[in-house]
Amino acid sequence: MKHQGKVALVTGAAQGIGMACATRLLAEGAQVALLDRDGDRLHALAARLGAGTLAISADLTGLGTASATEIVARVTERFGRLDILVNNAGVLRLQSFLDFDPDDFSLMMDVNVRAPLVLSQAAARAMIAGAAGGAIVNLTSVTAELAAPLIAGYAASKGALRQLTRVMALELIGQGIRVNAVGPGTIGTEMAANAVLGDSAQRHTVLSRTPIGRLGKTDEIAKAVSFLASDDASYIVGQTVYVDGGRLILNYVVPVAEGDA
Ligand SMILES: NC(=O)c1ccc[n+]([C@@H]2O[C@H](COP(=O)([O-])OP(=O)(O)OC[C@H]3O[C@@H](n4cnc5c(N)ncnc54)[C@H](O)[C@@H]3O)[C@@H](O)[C@H]2O)c1
Repeated sequence: MKHQGKVALVTGAAQGIGMACATRLLAEGAQVALLDRDGDRLHALAARLGAGTLAISADLTGLGTASATEIVARVTERFGRLDILVNNAGVLRLQSFLDFDPDDFSLMMDVNVRAPLVLSQAAARAMIAGAAGGAIVNLTSVTAELAAPLIAGYAASKGALRQLTRVMALELIGQGIRVNAVGPGTIGTEMAANAVLGDSAQRHTVLSRTPIGRLGKTDEIAKAVSFLASDDASYIVGQTVYVDGGRLILNYVVPVAEGDA
């Protein structure tokens, strides 16, 4: 199995893409620490996944060095090491630019950029101490590249995370830690349901920009995350792999089948 003997920490693991990543890494042999602010869902998932998991109930908002170090220490105390960090937890607030609440902008930069930075620092220190290298995978988005109305804060945060991925990759590769990102298109999760899939017009807009003709599945993102975290990606450093059904290469719109929108 791809991740046999490895230990992973996945943030935002209680649902959606994070849950799929945790489930896949576990199925591929890793022991997995699941972190989320939603303690109820998190503990239910850990109980369902069973042995080889550790539930860490924590809110990453305003994450500081001491808390990040404590989170990583809980993982290494339980499993003895840390090999893989998946910075998946993220938040999305939609507002028109002129009305954009600066506090919501700060929240997105905080959870989507600062938390990955601070947690990656703590994780990288543990990986360096373990002297076995490691892999960090950040969840960005096609919105790191593409613009749309209402997503000023979210797009800025994902663009920042994309660049953070590159700088981290350069600084950590000398220690044997590979840093990469996965940029999803529109995936059928609660976040997407709240943001863009709420009504048929929005759904139609998304699908008309999606050459493959359907939404992505959480496990399709998890497969890319698992690959980048594995030794199969041993020469891949500082890249973002877009798993988007063709969204980024499209320069027009595609027909949407009747009934799909
Ligand atoms: N769903 C999509 O279409 C899509 C597209 C592009 C990128 N992404 C990115 O993928 C990641 C996962 O998205 P998703 O659709 O699964 O989202 P989701 O909202 O369904 O799940 C996010 C999880 O993160 C947790 N979380 C949020 N803020 C947290 C905090 N401060 N501390 C701890 N946990 C916190 C939530 O409790 C939740 O369990 C996010 O970074 C998101 O921006 C998603």
